[in-house]
Amino acid sequence: MKVLILGIDGYIGFPLAMRLMGEGHDVYGADNFYTRKRVRGVKSGSAIKINSMKKRMELLNNKIKFFYGDVSDPKFIYDIVKKSMPDAIVHLAEQRSAPYSMISLKNANETLVKNIKSTMNIIYAVKDIKRDAHIVKLGSMGEYGTPNIDIPEGFFDVNYNGRSDYLPFPRMGQSWYHLSKVDDTYSLMLSNKIWNLNISDVMQGVVYGTRTKEINDNRIFSRFDIDEVYGTVLNRFAAQSVIDMPLTVYGKGEQKRAFLSLEDSVTCLNIILNHPPEKEYRVYNQFDEYYSLNYIANKIKESSKTMFDKNIKIDHLKDPRVEMEEHYYNPVNDNLKNIGYRRVRKIEDEIPVILKDLNENKKSIIKYKNTIMPKTLWR
Ligand SMILES: NC(=O)c1ccc[n+]([C@@H]2O[C@H](COP(=O)([O-])OP(=O)(O)OC[C@H]3O[C@@H](n4cnc5c(N)ncnc54)[C@H](O)[C@@H]3O)[C@@H](O)[C@H]2O)c1
Repeated sequence: MKVLILGIDGYIGFPLAMRLMGEGHDVYGADNFYTRKRVRGVKSGSAIKINSMKKRMELLNNKIKFFYGDVSDPKFIYDIVKKSMPDAIVHLAEQRSAPYSMISLKNANETLVKNIKSTMNIIYAVKDIKRDAHIVKLGSMGEYGTPNIDIPEGFFDVNYNGRSDYLPFPRMGQSWYHLSKVDDTYSLMLSNKIWNLNISDVMQGVVYGTRTKEINDNRIFSRFDIDEVYGTVLNRFAAQSVIDMPLTVYGKGEQKRAFLSLEDSVTCLNIILNHPPEKEYRVYNQFDEYYSLNYIANKIKESSKTMFDKNIKIDHLKDPRVEMEEHYYNPVNDNLKNIGYRRVRKIEDEIPVILKDLNENKKSIIKYKNTIMPKTLWR
């Protein structure tokens, strides 16, 4: 299969490229190092040192064809789709931080315009150049918000005033970032309806971890963000514990979110690529389990005690976000299980691996220490 990965330099994109290469696919990738630049902009950096893209390519024997450019530029997308004529496009290349989108009007507009435009560019390029290509688009479980009912995969049966229909489940994203993903979802749904494009719209949970099978073998690590803007919650807590900082839980900590390891994220995307839809718009809720923030913090505390005999504190800060701190949460993830997904890495097994890897990178965590505490407020 020829696969074009947009966002190949990212946390998920690079390990996915290594997985697909290993399975014998032709891998093409695009990136403009937007995340590297924006993370530097908040005076942070990857806590685990990563190579330049040039070096990464060399380490992989230059088997990946890399295009430098901005996916929100239509000319660039048309050009690389023509050059690669892919069977599948995995679209990971978006502004991916909810806090970043909440900093100012400029940040909100940047997120909305870039993300919505990039998805539209891909839709049109596929329609015009390679209509049978499979678009695998990374959305977020955060698109749904936290409704007081179970969360299905994209659609549900509605009975209203004596009539019934099968409709999109309400999307109640809680940041401009999440709303940009909601817009992507509706654009993809429409593109399937009017042009029969093959779409897998992936509602992904929070990803954690430092390793995949390939990283275990070749030690070519992916980026690992720990700051309040780009670091996701479990990864950030793990970094705090390594430098003896209290784990900073936002609010009561009973917020529940869906999670999966980096290994599981790559595994799921690979399975989805191997199950292309036939002129169908398909939604996958891509996660392994859901946990409260308190549960995650306690797991890290326990592992720090067992591994390093540390007594890490857990602090509860006033929640910088506007979100429910206690709520019902019950999303399903049957669609991935139905095509063969089974959890690869349990959270209990993965946390010690993360702590060990971060402990070896303690110096860089200390270097970026001042970027961990929350400064970005939703209010
Ligand atoms: N990491 C998570 O926990 C998580 C959870 C849910 C959804 N997602 C989604 O998965 C996708 C990948 O996430 P990630 O964690 O690997 O993020 P990442 O920021 O590490 O990777 C995204 C990559 O895309 C590139 N990129 C961004 N905008 C671009 C543009 N306009 N043109 C070219 N390249 C561009 C970045 O430079 C980066 O290398 C994102 O869409 C994100 O919203 C991630």
